[in-house]
Amino acid sequence: MASSVLVFLLFLLFASSYAQLSSTFYAKSCPKALSTIKTAGCDASLLLDDTSSFTGEKTALPNVNSVRGFDVIDTIKTKVESACPGVVSCADILAVAARDSVVALGGKSWKIQLGRRDATTASRSKANSDIPRSTFSLSQLISSFSDKGLSAKEMVTLSGGHTIGQARCTIFRARIYNDTNINTAYATTLKSNCPSTGSDDSLAPIDTASPKVFDNSYYRNLVNSKGLLHSDQELYNNGSTDAQVISYRRKPSTFLSDFAVAMVKMGNISPLTGKSGQIRTDCRKIN
Ligand code: HEM
Ligand SMILES: *[C@@H]1O[C@H](CO)[C@@H](O)[C@H](O)[C@H]1NC(C)=O
Ligand SMILES: *[C@@H]1O[C@H](CO)[C@@H](O)[C@H](O)[C@H]1NC(C)=O
Repeated sequence: MASSVLVFLLFLLFASSYAQLSSTFYAKSCPKALSTIKTAGCDASLLLDDTSSFTGEKTALPNVNSVRGFDVIDTIKTKVESACPGVVSCADILAVAARDSVVALGGKSWKIQLGRRDATTASRSKANSDIPRSTFSLSQLISSFSDKGLSAKEMVTLSGGHTIGQARCTIFRARIYNDTNINTAYATTLKSNCPSTGSDDSLAPIDTASPKVFDNSYYRNLVNSKGLLHSDQELYNNGSTDAQVISYRRKPSTFLSDFAVAMVKMGNISPLTGKSGQIRTDCRKIN
């Protein structure tokens, strides 16, 4: 199942009033909702077939904006709509698909709170202002999560989502050419597919050790100065969050259970519920 689903979930969640979500929201209206999402998601799991090393620009380029996530959600939505037309929101599908992806890749499960509705507007400027950047310093990362009610500890925990998935050369170029807190051999390897100009869309796994396993190796990488994004390495750069990184490196089970709890909390930030918003028919556009 698509690792990139997670990142869309993040966008969605950051964009979307503590309200009454419930784990049994679809029990009567669409009893097959959860199993349909899981099965359809697995059938669409082409992302698991990516190579674990650097993915070349040529093969990746046409897929960068489509196959890396949105198509998977479209496939799931189509199947859910045929089971229960107009009942299950895209927002809930994303939340469930993210959870199922984590579990499929070895992470710990959590109970999903359901009943989110889909937005009828979107704000580019809010996405730009509210979503943290990979160029952020530790204090900027802490404050962007704090603005959403998430603690510094939860920020470090949720950043562990970077144990899967990929990033583009254009995102990590400045880190591999200009940062000094990066393992030299690691930077050299990355430079071979991410020249100082060009190949902007070449992809590299964010977790160089085990890009398709939901484990604690993201934190091990940080201790070895092998964070791919500048923002990743900020979590272990002689600052206030070093101790938590070390603790997660030592105790994978603590990371996995903290991650599950933090995902529930992030998933409950300001959802549309009740009569707000709509149930989109096509996740890509409003009805
Ligand atoms: C701490 C602040 C965060 C920053 C600055 C950040 C930034 C980024 C960036 C720049 C990328 C690469 C995008 C690209 O190259 O197209 C990325 C990918 C990703 N992020 Fe984050 N992220 C953050 C938090 C999170 C959280 C909380 C999660 C999930 C719990 C997450 C999950 C992912 C995943 C799964 C990918 C890979 C997407 C793919 O392979 O298509 N990130 N992130
Ligand atoms: C690295 O820093 C130099 C000097 O500030 C700057 O000119 C250059 O554009 C930076 N390179 C990257 C890849 O960001
Ligand atoms: C952290 O501090 C140690 C000891 O003072 C130093 O050797 C190391 O270079 C520092 N690391 C970073 C990333 O600044």
